[in-house]
This record gives sequence, C-alpha cells and structure tokens, in this order.
Amino acid sequence: MFNNRFNLFNCSLILLLFTLIGIVHAETLTIYSGRSKSLVEPIIKQFEEKSGIQVEVSYGNTTQLAAALLTEGAKSPASLFWAQDAGALGAVSKKAMFEKLPESILTKVPSGFRDADGFWVATSGRARVLAYSPERVKMEELPQSIFDLTQPMWKGRVGWAPTNASFQAFVTSLRVQVGEERTEEWLRDMKANGAKKYAKNTPIIEALAAGEIDLGLPNHYYLLRFKSKDSNFPVEQTFFQTSDSGNLVNIAGVGVLKSSKNKEAALKFVEFLLSAKAQQYFTSDVFEYPAIEGVTPHANLLPLSELLQLAPTFNLNSMDDLDGTVELLRRAEIL
Ligand SMILES: [Fe+2]
Repeated sequence: MFNNRFNLFNCSLILLLFTLIGIVHAETLTIYSGRSKSLVEPIIKQFEEKSGIQVEVSYGNTTQLAAALLTEGAKSPASLFWAQDAGALGAVSKKAMFEKLPESILTKVPSGFRDADGFWVATSGRARVLAYSPERVKMEELPQSIFDLTQPMWKGRVGWAPTNASFQAFVTSLRVQVGEERTEEWLRDMKANGAKKYAKNTPIIEALAAGEIDLGLPNHYYLLRFKSKDSNFPVEQTFFQTSDSGNLVNIAGVGVLKSSKNKEAALKFVEFLLSAKAQQYFTSDVFEYPAIEGVTPHANLLPLSELLQLAPTFNLNSMDDLDGTVELLRRAEIL
C-alpha cells in the first residue's frame, strides 16, 4: 500500500518534471546573432521580460554564423539568424533555409529594407558615407562619386579599411553594380593614388582628426559615436551624389529558419525588433537608421525616406558573393 502510494507520487513527480521540461523547452528561443552582445543584449532582455519567452543567443561573426547554418542545415538548433549584413542573409536564403515571413511583418518596412521574396527583413540600417576634414577640404571640393577619389587632387589623402566586413560588402555591391572589371580598375587606381589602409572604421575617423588623411570611407555611425562625446570633434560626413555606389545602405536583419521548432516565438521576436520601442533603441543608442517609418531617427541622421533616395538602386540580396570579393581584393593586391 505504502509502496503503491510512493510509486504513484513518484510517477506524478516525473510527469510534472517532463511537463515542465516540455514547457521550458518550447519557450526557449535560440538565436544566432552576428550582432555584438553589447549592442543587442539590452533589447533581448526586454523581449524576455515582455514575452516570458526565454532566449538563448549564440554570438559570433555574421559570415561565420551563416557558414555554420549552411553546414548544420535542418539540424541547426537556431530558430533565428540575426545578421549584420544583407550578404549573409542572402547566402542562407539562397539555400532555401528561411521561412517566408508573413505580410504583416514585411509591410512594416520599406521595400528597400526587406528581401524581395520575403525571407528576411531589416531590423536597422547602416550607410556608407564620405567622412572628411572640414578644415582641409572645402565644401565645393567634396567629391561627388567614389570614382572621383582616384583623381590626382586626392593623392595620398583618402583612408579606407579593406579588411573590414562593411567595406568588403560595399565592394561586393560595386561588383554587382558596375561589374568585375570596373571594380578592379577602381581598386587598382585607388591603390595607385595612395589610398591609406586602416584596420577598421574607428581608426579612419581618428586619422581624419589627426590630419593623416582628409577623406575617409567608413560606416555612418562611427563619427556619431565621437560626436556624442565631443560635439566639436573636427570631422564631418556627407553622402556622394544621389544613387552613387558610395552611398550603399546595408542593413542588419533577421530571418526565421524553416527548421525552427518554435516559429511562433521566433515571429514574436521579429515583431518585437520592429516595434517602435526596439527601433527607437537602435537609433537613439546605437546611432543606426530605424527600419520603420514613424520612429524619430537620432538628430544627426536623415529621415529613412531621404536616406533611401540617396542610396544606389540595388537589390541587397545580390550581395552574397563575399568569396569573390576577397579574391578580387587579393588579385588587385589590396589585401
Ligand atoms: Fe561596424
């Protein structure tokens, strides 16, 4: 009798345990994030609190995470891929690993900010810009196109970061827009014109302030970080002429994996990232462009619609051949 009761009690406990594991398991969302922990952790915490869904994040380099997903295929534990670059999303999308997103999510962002076939959506925007020294470059001298940077007047005055992923994404977009040959010619002409190499974007801004160079090709948010600490920081930035390849607008974006066992929670997360609250965080704290209209961009940023008008007309999905870009940079002896 005692034994039976004990067994019954035991069985109930075990049942309860399994049920709990089931609930916890179903409510844990695994994300592969190519965005850095320091940038996205606060927003992920907010989502967990709001939704009651537990999130597990594998942080890594965007390109490497895309490669991991391609290797893991349907066995991947990831429900979502949050990437720093459209090229990586395109690579995963090309292997038909993403679930098509519902219209209700897709229509939240402008068409230039989402995959044409609906497999991923931007969560924020980042633009390539022309940074310059206002002390050494007059407004009327500012080059109108990246193709002007090879002129003799800019000899030894331009800084770039050829090993940087954002620069390489820009080169990939250039190959798509003007072709392999013209891109190679531009790279070689830039090198011949004494373009100075920097390891990443921040040193380009510092070199501009220090007088080492007069023009630079970084992403837009680096200078804004300097300006937020010192509004008199002696560097400015602008865009090239409308539609110039140098005005590439890249995105950070997200896709839901077809193999996810937790699609409902995954979609809730995507919806949260496109909420006014999360969007305000990306622009106010990270200085990125919001992906939705109706969110006030940081005071030093253009409205999204103006930015998209300046950007070259270009399908972000066609930016998936990073290997070809690295090969080209080696061939042109830039890397
Ligand atoms: Fe960056």
